[in-house]
Amino acid sequence: MNNHWLLLLFLCFILNSNLGGDTISANKSLSFGETTVSSGEKFELGFFKPGNSFNYYIGIWYKNTILWQNVVWVANRDKPLDYGTTNLTILHGNLVLIDKFQGIVWKTHAASIITSNHLVIAVLRDDGNLILSDMPNSSTPLILWESFDYPTDTLLPGAKLGYDKRRTQRGQVLISWKSLSDPAPGLYSLELDPSHARFVIKWNRTKQFCASGS
Ligand SMILES: *[C@@H]1O[C@H](CO)[C@@H](O)[C@H](O)[C@H]1NC(C)=O
Ligand SMILES: *[C@@H]1O[C@H](CO)[C@@H](O)[C@H](O)[C@H]1NC(C)=O
Ligand SMILES: *[C@@H]1O[C@H](CO)[C@@H](O)[C@H](O)[C@H]1NC(C)=O
Ligand SMILES: *[C@@H]1O[C@H](CO)[C@@H](O)[C@H](O)[C@H]1NC(C)=O
Repeated sequence: MNNHWLLLLFLCFILNSNLGGDTISANKSLSFGETTVSSGEKFELGFFKPGNSFNYYIGIWYKNTILWQNVVWVANRDKPLDYGTTNLTILHGNLVLIDKFQGIVWKTHAASIITSNHLVIAVLRDDGNLILSDMPNSSTPLILWESFDYPTDTLLPGAKLGYDKRRTQRGQVLISWKSLSDPAPGLYSLELDPSHARFVIKWNRTKQFCASGS
């Protein structure tokens, strides 16, 4: 494949219409086809259509790499969208993906300490972390939710793959895509095995077939 062909694929892959800024708020939702870019222009968040799929997803990808598959995070990985009116916005203190029938396709499930939409913002940071926080004006915002806690199949530098023994008894799990055109959870997963302090790769979420040293 020559470079022009790759570039064309890349342009088809991403519906590019940059909103500017790195923030989503109740006043500035992300409409279908729009994207938002982190302050240093390393990462981009928005609607995309993987491979030869007809479905659309909200994801985060490296902005300046011409790679076929550079998506690092997918919000609605098993709830694809049709073409059309959808919108990523802040509702009841959460980041919410709304479909054309005003149904909620996906949301962040942040503990709703704050219910005023205007006191919550989502910012795509330059490390690829999407952070939902309160107090848009504060220098020490309270983090309500972050995408680094809910990875898809990629661990970015600065993110952790851990296990919360005290609070949730759950950990982060990386799960492969089903195929290049379908980000739904596939058969392979990687997680921390807290009882042996090691990482394991499982097949179909149950059968362990590979483990790291402790
Ligand atoms: C997005 O959805 C919210 C909530 O339904 C609405 O207030 C807002 O106007 C919508 N924005 C766009 C651009 O459609
Ligand atoms: C949104 O707009 C309202 C009214 O114009 C304003 O009071 C509020 O501070 C804005 N919120 C954000 C997060 O920008
Ligand atoms: C945040 O700052 C904007 C503009 O400076 C102001 O209009 C708004 O009321 C402030 N919001 C809060 C919650 O302090
Ligand atoms: C994976 O496990 C589930 C049960 O947990 C089973 O229904 C399914 O058939 C398995 N998938 C494959 C590909 O074996």
